[in-house]
Amino acid sequence: MKDNIILTGFMGSGKTSVGIRLSYRMKRTMIDTDKWIEQRQKMSVSEIFAVYGESAFRKMETDCLKALIETADKQIISVGGGLPVREENHGLLKQLGRVFYLKVSPEVVYGRLKDDKTRPLLQVENPLEKIRGLMSARSPIYEACADVILDVSDMSFDEILDNIEEKGGYCYENTGNKRP
Ligand code: S3P
Repeated sequence: MKDNIILTGFMGSGKTSVGIRLSYRMKRTMIDTDKWIEQRQKMSVSEIFAVYGESAFRKMETDCLKALIETADKQIISVGGGLPVREENHGLLKQLGRVFYLKVSPEVVYGRLKDDKTRPLLQVENPLEKIRGLMSARSPIYEACADVILDVSDMSFDEILDNIEEKGGYCYENTGNKRP
């Protein structure tokens, strides 16, 4: 297994913001799978969804993980919110490093993303309902893929970073798919 720190979680859970801060603190470079794909495709995620469709984007995410397994080590890797859903990606995430799931409530996500235009899946009439539906389907998957689960809804950035570094405090090691 590679020594990367992998951040997973729903859109708006803070993976990118946490990743950037963590990369400064730990002096590790950061990779964002959405950005990685956008750079290679020379298109935004929204354009990729519009032109090629979601399933093509999901395949690009898997290709991205496979490439990172070959090239990335001792880095912070923030992955798109839907990436863990594809079963093929579970083993790839494990090979890539230690997986931290940043868990947030649907209301927190809605508050952060209600005016966002860059997430194609949330450009719907009732985004909160969409967030709730996607999150209830995905939460068990995020939990199953995680080495460490962090409830971050009420945590400051410093608390999140401390927890990731120390793997203590509010976080707990994922011993199964259930919280202790
Ligand atoms: C998605 C999450 C997005 C991006 C795409 C699809 C999802 O990434 O990959 O819009 O299915 O949850 P973030 O989690 O970084 O917003």
